[in-house]
Amino acid sequence: MEWDADLYESSHGFVHEASADLVEVLGPGEGERVLDVGCGTGHLTARIAERTAGAVGVDSDPAMLAEARGEYPDLPAVRADARRLPFEAEFDAAFSNAALHWIPEADAPAAARSIAGALVPGGRLAAELGGAGNVAGVVGAVEAAVREAGHDPGPNPWYFPTVGEYASVLERAGLEVRRARLFDRPTPLDGEDGLRDWVAMFGESLLAPVPADERAAVLDGVEERARAAGLYRDGEWVADYRRLRVVAVRE
Ligand code: BEZ
Repeated sequence: MEWDADLYESSHGFVHEASADLVEVLGPGEGERVLDVGCGTGHLTARIAERTAGAVGVDSDPAMLAEARGEYPDLPAVRADARRLPFEAEFDAAFSNAALHWIPEADAPAAARSIAGALVPGGRLAAELGGAGNVAGVVGAVEAAVREAGHDPGPNPWYFPTVGEYASVLERAGLEVRRARLFDRPTPLDGEDGLRDWVAMFGESLLAPVPADERAAVLDGVEERARAAGLYRDGEWVADYRRLRVVAVRE
């Protein structure tokens, strides 16, 4: 998937704002080298960099990296795939927010090994990703509306694991899981078009079989179904986010 970094920046700031306290969970110390895996537009990497000069962001998306470099020119931002990080035992800690669920289930072990390999022994990982059931109501509404329009929905691009699944992926990669928690985070979306904007930004893969001239009608159908599923409350759209947070240590 290619990102529209400007749209992400203007309409989806909640992604990093809601997870800012993950930086506290990581607790970067002065002088620590910290790798932010899937740094996106770099806002949380910059928060980490307020605590230590050793923060480095990596992302596979050039548009996101360009945005991060423009906003934080002093922050090292490297293009790399989480499954093949170019680092060997170089970091005291790794951090990741809202990125690891974009790595397909089949590749999750490779990403976990690569992150573990970037850490020194005893180095820690604090990560948050979409967990089991994440945005199930939104995805259900999109899939139903696409079918109703006579198409098969495109592939679901995300891996939203359970605590047990992800803990065992991390353990097999040599990371000892100290904490893992799955929790609901109902997330208000900005404005009357918030749901359409979310689907347009993130749901391209599901909508891919729908021709451009049918998209608006399908999005009307998505809204109708999402309302029926209770995702419009007190005058705003609320996405049914569920987060999986893990803290693990390289053995
Ligand atoms: C998430 O952060 O959970 C998420 C973001 C975009 C698409 C799907 C999930």
